[in-house]
Amino acid sequence: MDTILILDFGSQTTQLIGRRIRDLGVHSSIVAGDTAIEDSLLRDVKGIILSGSPASVADSDAPVPDSRVYQCGVPLLGICYGLQRLVADHGGTVDATVAREYGRSRQHYRRQHPLFKGVPDGFVSWMSHGDSIRELPADATLIAESEHGLPGCISFAQTNSVGIQFHPEVTHCEYGDTILENFAVGICGARRQWTVQHYLELEGRRVRQQVGSDPVLLLISGGVDSTVAAALLLQVLDPQQVHLMYIDTGLMRHRESEEVERGLRDLGARHLYLINAEERFLSRLAGISDPEQKRAVIGDAFIEVQQQEVARHISGDYFLAQGTLYTDLIESGRGVGTKAKVIKSHHNVRSPLVEAKRAAGRIVEPLSGLYKDEVRRLGKLLGVAAHTVDRHPFPGPGLAVRILGEVNREKCDILRAVDDIYLSQLRSRGLYHQIWQAFSVLLPVRSTGVTGDARGYGYVAALRAVISRDGMTADVYPFPPQDLLEISALITNRVPEVGRVVYDVSSKPPATIEWE
Ligand code: XMP
Repeated sequence: MDTILILDFGSQTTQLIGRRIRDLGVHSSIVAGDTAIEDSLLRDVKGIILSGSPASVADSDAPVPDSRVYQCGVPLLGICYGLQRLVADHGGTVDATVAREYGRSRQHYRRQHPLFKGVPDGFVSWMSHGDSIRELPADATLIAESEHGLPGCISFAQTNSVGIQFHPEVTHCEYGDTILENFAVGICGARRQWTVQHYLELEGRRVRQQVGSDPVLLLISGGVDSTVAAALLLQVLDPQQVHLMYIDTGLMRHRESEEVERGLRDLGARHLYLINAEERFLSRLAGISDPEQKRAVIGDAFIEVQQQEVARHISGDYFLAQGTLYTDLIESGRGVGTKAKVIKSHHNVRSPLVEAKRAAGRIVEPLSGLYKDEVRRLGKLLGVAAHTVDRHPFPGPGLAVRILGEVNREKCDILRAVDDIYLSQLRSRGLYHQIWQAFSVLLPVRSTGVTGDARGYGYVAALRAVISRDGMTADVYPFPPQDLLEISALITNRVPEVGRVVYDVSSKPPATIEWE
C-alpha cells in the first residue's frame, strides 16, 4: 500500500501529521527519526516527512536522519525542525539568534511551488520555532517568506526536497490539509488506498498467520478498544479459538456488565468468562481514601484476580490479545524507539501475564496500526453496537476515582443511579456527541436541603462535561442552561440520597478531567 513515511524527531505533533495524511486516505507510518533507511523500509514509501523536534540543529546531540534519506530519490518534506535539518544537511546555517516566531504568521510567496497549489498568497500559518535560518545552502530556493521576513518555505532541487517552517498539521494553520495533500498526492503521487476495510483484510490475514489454530485470550474492559479487538478476532478467526474474559470490579456503571455480555454474545462470542469480583475489589478498597492508593489497590487486585481466573479457564500455549492502539505503541516508546515520551504508562496495568506473554512473543495486537477514530470506524464495519463504538472514555479504576474519599457499595449504587440519569439524558437530548467526556462525581460531603416539609441532609453530586481532542487539555462544555437545570431536577427527584447537584466549570489545566 502506498505509504508516506514520517521520521519522528520527537515533536508533539508528529502523531497529528500521521493522522492528517491518513485522513486524506493515504497510509502513513511513523518511525524513529534515526531509523536506518534501507530498501526494505522503503518498499511502499512514496514520500518522506521529517517532523519537528524540541531539539535545535545546533545541539551536539540533535537527532539526525540516516544520510541515505537524501539519496533515496523519494520526495522529502521537512516540517519546522525538519526544514532546519534540510538546511543544515545541505550546507546552510541555522541559529537561535536570528528571530523566533510563535503563533500566527502570514506567508507570502516569492516563487511558485506545487506544494501550494490552491493555497492563496498571505494564508495564515502556525509557527513555533526558536531557531531560524541564517544562510541558505547553494542549491536552495526561497519559495515563501513569513510576514516577519523569515524563510517560510525552501526547496532543494538536488534532493527533491522541500521544507516549511510552519506546522500544516495543526488546525490553526489555514490550508494545512491542502498543503499535506499537495505533498502526499500531488508531489509524491501516493494513491489513496487506506480504508479500514483494507486494514481488516490485511490484519485478518496477519493474525491468522500469527496464531494458527492456537487459542487466543482477550481481556475485555467494556471500552471501545477491547470490544473492537474482540469483534475483529471473532471475525477473522474461528470463534471457538477466541476466549474472552471480563472482570466486573463492581466499579462499573449502571448495567454496564450486562451490556458488555450482550454485545459480545451478539458478536458471536462462544467462550465468554464473566467474573464477578465486586466483593474482592470493594473489600480491598475499604478504609482507603487517597486517590493514588486507590489506583494502586485496584491495579494489584486486578492482577491477582486476572491471574487466578485466567489459570482457572485457560492453560497451555495460548496467545494473549490486547487492544493496543497505534498511539499507545508510540507513546509507550515501542513504536518509535528512544525518542518517544512515556505519557500513558500510569494508566495501564503492567501485569505479569502481559510481560510473560510479551517475552514469549505471544502477544496479538490487532489494532496497533490504527488511530482511535479508525478503531471506531472499524468497529462499525464489524457490527459493534453504535452505543459502544461512540462511547466517551472511561477510566480503568472506574467509579472508584469518581467517588471522592472512601468507596463502598452504597456510594457506588448512588453514583450509578446519578450517572445513568445524566448520561441517558445527554443521549436523549442529543448532547452526548457534542461532548468529549461526561460523567458524575460523588462528593464526600453532605449538605442541607428541604424535601416536602422536612429538612434533609443529602449527598452532593457534581456533573462534569468537557470538550477535548485527546484528554491532554480540556475546555468546559458550555451546557445549555435549561438542559442542566432539568437534568439536575431529575437527579434530585429520582435519587433521594442526593440533595444537591453542582456543575464543574474548571478547564484542564489547571484542573484535571477526573476529580481524583
Ligand atoms: P485526567 O483526569 O488526567 O484524565 O485529566 C485524562 C483522561 O484519562 C482518563 N483517566 C484514566 N484512565 N486510568 C485510566 O484508564 C486512570 O487511572 C485514569 N485517570 C484518568 C480520564 O478519564 C480522561 O479521559
